[in-house]
Amino acid sequence: MKVLVTGGLGFIGSHTCVSLMESGYDVVIADDLSNSSADVQERIAKIAGKTPAFYKADVTDQAAMERLFSAEKPEAIIHFAGFKSVPESVENPLKYYANNVGSTLVLCALMKRFGTRFIIFSSSATVYGDNEIPYREDMEPCRATNPYGRTKAMSEEIIRDFAASEGGRHKAALLRYFNPVGAHESGLLGEDPRGVPGNLMPYIQRVAAGKLPCLTVYGTDYPTVDGTGVRDYIHVMDLAQAHVAALRKLEAEQPAAGAGRGDSESTYIYNIGTGRGTSVLEMIQAFERATGVHIEYKAGPRRAGDLPEYYACADLAEKELGWKAKRSVEDMCRDAWNWQKNIK
Ligand code: UD1
Repeated sequence: MKVLVTGGLGFIGSHTCVSLMESGYDVVIADDLSNSSADVQERIAKIAGKTPAFYKADVTDQAAMERLFSAEKPEAIIHFAGFKSVPESVENPLKYYANNVGSTLVLCALMKRFGTRFIIFSSSATVYGDNEIPYREDMEPCRATNPYGRTKAMSEEIIRDFAASEGGRHKAALLRYFNPVGAHESGLLGEDPRGVPGNLMPYIQRVAAGKLPCLTVYGTDYPTVDGTGVRDYIHVMDLAQAHVAALRKLEAEQPAAGAGRGDSESTYIYNIGTGRGTSVLEMIQAFERATGVHIEYKAGPRRAGDLPEYYACADLAEKELGWKAKRSVEDMCRDAWNWQKNIK
C-alpha cells in the first residue's frame, strides 16, 4: 500500500516513514522544508534500505498536491505537516489557521476526489485543554488554550465530519500525542529545532552539548510530586509504530462496518502516550543517569499557559490497536543524546 506522509522529513514524520517502510508500506513524502532539511530523505533511506519518494510541496498548495495525487495515487495519508510553536501561534494566529487547518481541508478534498481511503491525523493532547487527568478519549475536550491547540481541535472536527459524510468510504484515525521525545536508535534521525528550543528535551540536549549554558525550570511550586511540571513523554519510535498499528486497524475495518467510536462511525481516536507522568526534575535526573552528562539548571517562574500535570490513559490504543509504548524515559534520554552528539 502506498502512503502519503505529509511533513515526512520532520521529527515525527521521518521516524514514522522508517516504521512504515520497515513494515512493507511504500512511502511518498510531501514536505515544504520549512522546518526540516532535505538530507533527511537519505537518512531514512540509510535506515530503511530504500529511498522514499519526495515532493517538495506545501500541503496548502492545492494545485501542487493535485499533481502529487495524480502521479502517485496514495491509498492512505498520514498528515504531520503543520506549524507547532505555541507562542508563535499566539502572535500570528492567521498563519497557524491558514496552514494547519488549510492543509487539512486540501487533503480531505483530494481524498474525496481521488477516493483515498484512509487518513491518520497528527493531533495532540493539547485538544483536551484543562481537563481531568488522566486524559481519556471519551472525555468532552475543553477549549484548547491557544491558537495552535485550536488548529488541532478544528482539524479533528473537519476530518470527523468529512469521514462521516461519505458513507464509510473514508476511515480516519486521530492520534493524540503526548510529549514525543528521543530519536532513532541509529543516531541518524532526531529533533533539531531551529533557534532556541521551546520544548524541554531539545533544550536539555543543547545544555548537555554545551550549546546553551543552563536550563530554566519553568515553575517549582506546582501541586505535583516535586513542584515541577509533569508530562507523559513518549519515545518517538514508539509513537512511529503507533501509526503503523493505526493504519492496520483502518485497513482491517470494512467500509461502513459501523464499529467506530465518538460521533462518527468512520473515525477512531486514540491517545498515544505511555500512561506515566514524569516531572521536569525527574527528566533531568533520568538524562544524567542515562548519559553520564551533568545538566546545569536553575529555577524560574511558571511559563504562561502551562498546565501543572497531564498524562494519558493509554488503555484504548492497547486494547484496539494492540499497541503499547515499550521504551523507558532512560531510553528516550539515551537516544536523544546519541543523536545530539551527531549534530554539527
Ligand atoms: C508544548 C506545548 C503543546 C505542544 C507540545 C509539542 C506549550 C504551553 N505547550 O507542550 O501545546 O503540543 O509542546 O511538543 O508550549 N519546561 C521547562 N523548561 C524549558 C522547557 C520546558 O521547565 O526550557 C517544562 C515545561 O514547563 C513543562 C515541561 O517542561 O512542564 C514540558 O514542556 P514542553 O516540552 O514545552 O512541552 P509542553 O509544554 O507539555
